[in-house]
Amino acid sequence: MSTANTAFPIQHEPELLGKTVVVIGGSAGIGFETARQARAQGATLILTARNPERLQRAANELNAVSNAAFDATDPASLDRFFRELPMIDHVMVTAGRPYYARLRDMDFAQVRRLVDEHLLLVLQIARNAVNKVRPGGTLLFMSGTAGRRAAVGLGVTSALTAALPALIGNLALELAPIRVNLIAAGFVDTPLSAQLLGDELEQRRNQLRATLPIRRVVEPADVAALAVHIMVNTALTGATYDIDGGQQFVAA
Ligand SMILES: NC(=O)c1ccc[n+]([C@@H]2O[C@H](COP(=O)([O-])OP(=O)(O)OC[C@H]3O[C@@H](n4cnc5c(N)ncnc54)[C@H](OP(=O)(O)O)[C@@H]3O)[C@@H](O)[C@H]2O)c1
Repeated sequence: MSTANTAFPIQHEPELLGKTVVVIGGSAGIGFETARQARAQGATLILTARNPERLQRAANELNAVSNAAFDATDPASLDRFFRELPMIDHVMVTAGRPYYARLRDMDFAQVRRLVDEHLLLVLQIARNAVNKVRPGGTLLFMSGTAGRRAAVGLGVTSALTAALPALIGNLALELAPIRVNLIAAGFVDTPLSAQLLGDELEQRRNQLRATLPIRRVVEPADVAALAVHIMVNTALTGATYDIDGGQQFVAA
């Protein structure tokens, strides 16, 4: 006699039902995919980015309740955005891009932009979030694993990579019971990576497929799944979560 497997599939309630998720940088790449997965888990979405047309397209596709086009590194615009927000549960921040340059070639305007996007923006969002994020919600920021190894051209990126986990720990204490967390990614196959690598994108993907311990490229969906988990798991605060397919341990 054969016994059939149980005919009762496990039903999960959507994990972000009733929660409002703000994604600053939600029109593309990791931010867009995080918004998409949060929506699939029942979240109400509020999206921001600079380019209004691309943002509107993303907001329509994901059925966001609202969207706002502004540069997140402009403190006045950021303050206004937060002032007009209802109470929310989670903020994911994916604004920003890297800057690589040898000391002798360094453009200090670019260095200031990097510090603005990856350090001051964290502080400004943290201060704004105090009155808007419900207890137990998380602020979630992005960093990388590549800057952990010294390399010519990585100076400022390395310095920020080292600074952010320390800042996140401090903010987690200061903002409690709001949680504060950091995701450190390696190469992720996003529009930003495509733009940075141009014609060399496919070659880079192949190199990573051959050398990464996971033998595949990390996708925005991988990072988004981690981001949604950090939103849902209320034990997580003050920590940095690596997601790079093992890239930091190989010469890739
Ligand atoms: N991709 C990677 O390999 C990788 C690895 C490690 C870390 N990261 C970091 O992860 C974050 C997301 O990367 P991604 O690859 O998903 O980038 P992406 O594909 O370029 O998407 C970035 C999103 O943020 C928005 N944005 C950028 N600057 C902004 C600003 N100043 N104010 C408001 N919105 C802004 C963009 O829209 P608009 O351009 O219209 O503003 C877009 O919606 C970045 O901080 C990046 O440095 C990426």
